[in-house]
Amino acid sequence: MDKRFLLQAQELSHQKPEYLETLFAVGNGQIGVRAGHPLKVNANYPGNPGAFVNGFFDSEPIQYGEWAYGYAKEHQTICKLPNLRGLSLSIGQEQSTDSVWQTEQIQLTLNMAEGILHEFYHVETPLGKAFDLEMQSFASMTRSEFYVCRYTIKNANFTEPITVSHPLDQRFTVNQTDDPRVANKEHQLLKEEHGDYAIWTAPHSQKKLAIRVIGGDGQIQSGESLTTVFQLRLQEAEGAPFYQDAVDFETFVAEQRESYQQFWAASDIEITGDQELQMGIRFNLFHLNQGAGRDGRTNFAAKGLTGEGYEGHYFWDTEMYLLPFFTYTNPDIAKALLTYRATILPQAQKRAQELSQDGALFAWRTIDGQETSAYYPAGTAQLHINADIVYAFQLYERVTGDVRFIEEVGSEVVFETAKFWLSYGDFIEKDGKLSFCINGVTGPDEYSALVNNNFYTNKMAQNNLYYAIELAKRYEKNMELIDQWQQAADLMYFGYDASRGLTKQDDEFLEQSVWPFEETPAANYPLLLHYHPMIIYKHQVCKQADTVLAQMLFMGDFTLEQLKQDYQYYEKVTTHDSSLSRSIFSVMASRIGETAKAYRYFMDTALMDLTDLQKNVVDGIHAANMGGSWLSLIYGFAGLYYDEGIRLSNHLPTEIDELAFKLSYQGEELRIILREGSVECQLAPESGLFIEQTAKGIWVRKIAKKI
Ligand code: BGC
Repeated sequence: MDKRFLLQAQELSHQKPEYLETLFAVGNGQIGVRAGHPLKVNANYPGNPGAFVNGFFDSEPIQYGEWAYGYAKEHQTICKLPNLRGLSLSIGQEQSTDSVWQTEQIQLTLNMAEGILHEFYHVETPLGKAFDLEMQSFASMTRSEFYVCRYTIKNANFTEPITVSHPLDQRFTVNQTDDPRVANKEHQLLKEEHGDYAIWTAPHSQKKLAIRVIGGDGQIQSGESLTTVFQLRLQEAEGAPFYQDAVDFETFVAEQRESYQQFWAASDIEITGDQELQMGIRFNLFHLNQGAGRDGRTNFAAKGLTGEGYEGHYFWDTEMYLLPFFTYTNPDIAKALLTYRATILPQAQKRAQELSQDGALFAWRTIDGQETSAYYPAGTAQLHINADIVYAFQLYERVTGDVRFIEEVGSEVVFETAKFWLSYGDFIEKDGKLSFCINGVTGPDEYSALVNNNFYTNKMAQNNLYYAIELAKRYEKNMELIDQWQQAADLMYFGYDASRGLTKQDDEFLEQSVWPFEETPAANYPLLLHYHPMIIYKHQVCKQADTVLAQMLFMGDFTLEQLKQDYQYYEKVTTHDSSLSRSIFSVMASRIGETAKAYRYFMDTALMDLTDLQKNVVDGIHAANMGGSWLSLIYGFAGLYYDEGIRLSNHLPTEIDELAFKLSYQGEELRIILREGSVECQLAPESGLFIEQTAKGIWVRKIAKKI
């Protein structure tokens, strides 16, 4: 087995159990199971085990000290489910849940090539009974409601029977923290037993989930090896009845392997030169595969299904950090994630109405489509989410050529968001000319709230309007709005400080005093945990890439000189307190020729969770950053940029000898190989695409374009 597909706990054993539970969590987009210790199941064990089902949440009214019209009404919090891996063993009078059994973890290995977690423990009871416990577990990629475990007991020094059972009790641990990034609401689920299954109800949302344990009769005569298989089936309680028969373990395993083979065939990135980095990149891609909802009704939570950070909410993270990866490697998953946005369009339309605006405004953070952000300056005010969603639909169309999906599913989203921009923005005389201004918004940089003309927002809204015009003409819909959309897009305001030669992040940013970085102790980062928002907002300080992100997306609109100036300026005032930042700074460093810097940012990005750089892996992985590591490699080192076709250029840092990956473009598979000074693109002979070598790299386009 290629070691660079294995994540092994030995090298991480100095870490807290909660940290390992996150990294070794397994999931399939519907179910996610933290790698809690199978035998240390009682409450005094320091871990934080549990499981999640994508979209299964509880809600409750938000209690505001002071309320204002239109504030979000309800919290939504993903429910922590019982630890599906917890085991109870009994031998004679001894019960593993009653007394402390000594367990030594000999092995904990995540085989990412197959999507299976392997564990091996040596166990001794207080009365001296000893045996080995081996475990294989995974969330099935092919039957998404199944979590499958196989336990094997070997080398027992006794002959009495062992009883194995699988108690499913919700062991609730609420993170006692003031960290606003963590869910600290307790939602105790209600449980109703029904013979061999139980129904769990979220008390406020009244959502129901049934869990049935299938298999594993678990009574053995020891002395010989015992293998017992449990399959846990989770489904919405109102859904179809449970399958009558369970599939056998070997079939599940064969399907899992096959599914992962396909995933890696389309998505793997091979890096020659650094083994640890190779494993780290695969670890990121693996978690991306594990966290994506695939049913069109769920999405990708900021922490995937690995922890309760950010309450299981979906953000713009999906569209801007994850969808490039899926669109270029697994377009079906991209399509499912985009479909989710279309299904919540009615909630977005209602929200726009609540704000007395036309069209639709998507929630900044949500599970079921309703706005749940209780702090609107860093929540609802991030209107850019509308345009981010549209950008992702547009990228999907360009890369896949699937116009039918845009016609049937995407176009309404594009039209409704364009209507919103037209009603929210204002035509104002500015800098001596009539301009379309979008005032009172928050851009991606959450350390500058409620500003006028955030550059990123305006650039994205302009793109949203132009795409709406294109689709309106193509489908002959909303024709009466085309002129107004055109005028707003053409007159969109972009601030520029000519004396300093800088793009303005917003109207005021460059006029504020620069944050006193020199006097800020390292312990005071992230600033959001140490300073009142007002203190942060009145300074020039960025939490994350903002203008630089806009420049990454629309690079063709800027001169190289401008990109460099803005990069250098904004880099100095950016703290990277958000995990969404470094990857973008890496991409743009590559593109402006600062390869050494690009590599440094990339390394932080690539290994962020394995090194616990943000110090909160216990609450779950940083999914957007994982997508960001793909961006750093593919948009950065390989220079991928869409320009009526895809362009690739070589920005490989000296530390990487060779970079090879696949892209799916117009339904064709491209294999790209970068070595020092060269970019090679392999393509099937009759592909319908042509490759043009230019001085700057290569350009892959559809043949039809040339004729
Ligand atoms: C970032 C947002 C992001 C959210 C969820 C915040 O810290 O500032 O941009 O959407 O985390 O990942």
